[in-house]
Amino acid sequence: MNDEVLRAAEALREGKLVAFPTETVYGLGGDASNTTAIKRIFAVKGRPADHPLIVHLASRDYLDAWADKVPNYVRDLIEAFWPGPLTVVVRKLDAVSSLVTGGQDSVGLRVPNHALAQELLLQFSALGGVGIAAPSANRFGRVSPTAASAVREELGRFLDEDDLILDGGPCAIGLESTILDCTGDRPAIARPGAITADMIREVVGQNLVPFLGRIRTSGMLPSHYAPRAKVVLDEEPKPGDGLIALAIFSTPPGVVRLVEARDPLEYAQKLYEGMREADALGLRRVVAILPEGSGISLAIKDRLERASSKS
Ligand code: TXA
Ligand code: MG
Repeated sequence: MNDEVLRAAEALREGKLVAFPTETVYGLGGDASNTTAIKRIFAVKGRPADHPLIVHLASRDYLDAWADKVPNYVRDLIEAFWPGPLTVVVRKLDAVSSLVTGGQDSVGLRVPNHALAQELLLQFSALGGVGIAAPSANRFGRVSPTAASAVREELGRFLDEDDLILDGGPCAIGLESTILDCTGDRPAIARPGAITADMIREVVGQNLVPFLGRIRTSGMLPSHYAPRAKVVLDEEPKPGDGLIALAIFSTPPGVVRLVEARDPLEYAQKLYEGMREADALGLRRVVAILPEGSGISLAIKDRLERASSKS
């Protein structure tokens, strides 16, 4: 057993905040049953109170500690994809604090697939914890951190001395989880991620419905996931620009290569660190060449379109 993780679980139970790695991005965790901790998450992130938090669970067994009237297809989905990068938004039990759910009657739940996160959740549960609320560990509207150093850079000065940042290395996926609105008869994707519509369709055996904003998610805001640099898509980079693209695109003279990925999976992994580097270098403009295809490319496109809609 890892002492640092045990200390972190204890800190959470004492109402402190712990940033931790997941397979998608780093989260800023607090005990989802502790009102003071939840309020601090919103303060540290600078996040409006009406934007709900995802509650992270140690295992599928905790679903019914939060969710009410769970459709059968959700049971099939979590059987197939938990632990993993799928967040299901389901009706909440009355007892669930509306602070966590941003005042909505639904709650977002997921079991992360990362050894350190799982150990933390198991220790936390052994201490009587039921769920860790954790938004991405960045200031509101900014790029999610995919390394512990990025968490420190984003939130270090807003954290207290007793809060902790666990370092689990770079995140394997690099983009936030798929968010699935499961409050209706059929699911709808509210935020695309590594679990794709095709994968979901295969499990539920029926088509998804279009997401009509039945639930409110900040990741759906037109401008989100944005660096300070201006992001433009599929343009010819000029000298002084940053470039994020697959390796098949070469780097013109004077252009700063930020991401050179072998395939869309590596593109996703490196995207946010590339945007951070653009800001660290003080670049004014970043050109991103969107990867083609379905799968993770759709999630990359979604994030880059939001990042580029700032100007
Ligand atoms: O991969 C991830 O999902 C990461 C890691 C840390 O798990 N977390 C993450 O959290 O991206 P956050 O808070 O940055 O984004 C979660 C999104 C927000 O857009 C929020 O509005 C939405 O999930 N969400 C959470 N609970 C919801 C609910 N009950 N109804 C609608 N949207 C919800
Ligand atoms: Mg976020």
